[in-house]
Amino acid sequence: MTATALELAVVVPTFNESRNVPVMVAAMDKALAGRRWEVIFVDDDSPDGTADAARAIGRTDPRVRVVQRIGRRGLSSATIEGMCATAAPFVAVIDGDMQHDETLLPKMLDALLADDSVDVAIGSRFVEGGGTGEWDRDRVAKSELATRISRKVLKADLSDPMSGFFMIRADLVRTIVPHLSAIGFKILLDILTASPKPLKFVELPYVFRTRQIGESKLDHVVAMEFLIALYDRMFGRVVPVRFVMFSAIGALGAGVHFAALWLFFRLFGYSFLTGTIVATLIAMTFNFFLNNALTYRDARLKGFRALLDGWVGFCIVCSVGAVANIGVAAFLHDVQQAQWAPSALAGIAVAAVWNFALSSRFVWG
Ligand code: GDD
Ligand code: MN
Repeated sequence: MTATALELAVVVPTFNESRNVPVMVAAMDKALAGRRWEVIFVDDDSPDGTADAARAIGRTDPRVRVVQRIGRRGLSSATIEGMCATAAPFVAVIDGDMQHDETLLPKMLDALLADDSVDVAIGSRFVEGGGTGEWDRDRVAKSELATRISRKVLKADLSDPMSGFFMIRADLVRTIVPHLSAIGFKILLDILTASPKPLKFVELPYVFRTRQIGESKLDHVVAMEFLIALYDRMFGRVVPVRFVMFSAIGALGAGVHFAALWLFFRLFGYSFLTGTIVATLIAMTFNFFLNNALTYRDARLKGFRALLDGWVGFCIVCSVGAVANIGVAAFLHDVQQAQWAPSALAGIAVAAVWNFALSSRFVWG
């Protein structure tokens, strides 16, 4: 029985990797010869048809499975879903572009099989025998900075915390999932720092390969997501990261409001009321699109209809928020005789919490 039981699931998050899929499957077939394994491509509905490419192979090779997520984006959350979708006792996570060295997979598996006390086997570019391959100076510097920050802030004492290549015990990782923040690229860091009990890991060297097919999705927003994830780990329990972003964007929106008001009232000579109405609409629209692109990047509304509905909903929520703002501020100032500035701030705070709570539920919920 044990000889034929499923041993390993390899989770491969993909976005626009259709031409890499057959290459990956062939490489794993070779590297994992003699093992019972399956691969789960977790694809975020890639426009290039990555999910179809994987299904085409899966039709004749039942080891190849596909989770196609529609209307969602994110490497970490995709990886988590893959890890929860298998019966295998061990799960590995590997990039779908051949940059991680799949020949490490059997060595990771052996490391976990050999020692029950080891929880995670991690592929590292910064231990003896590993390397970053053909990276330019800029990329090396950025990676080093991120590595240093995460070592300091998260006290994760491993050589390559940015590595997205590892293998872990499946039942263990599923107990950690409820604690994960699931934002951004750094799923391994997330797992190691969120685990209620400290995880024991081993590091195995590999050399990061150069991408041959397709292109990287690691952009500036992803760098920002890394900072967000750090914030979330440090202070997220006190003030949720989305609320911080929502409020920061709200503050920008206030700036936009003033600029628009100045333009219409002072420059174009409209009445103050007309100017205020126009400025409010512009600021709400600005806030809606910025929140859609950043705060709710993982649940981003797309397409004309969804955007229109979302925008209308957002404007309604914010209008009620504005009424609450005015009500609270006027009550504190006029009835409670509070100073004008604290009264105004209290009104803004109430409106911010209201807008955030309702829009997260009814606009991006
Ligand atoms: N499902 C899903 N959703 N997959 C995604 C998404 C997404 O939003 N974004 C990227 N991926 C997939 C890619 O298709 C690829 O298989 C893998 O995640 C890695 O993405 P790349 O775009 O190739 O990232 P990279 O090569 O720049 O960065 C890699 O190396 C870094 C090491 O310095 C990643 O592994 C990083 O996590 C790692 O830190
Ligand atoms: Mn890559």
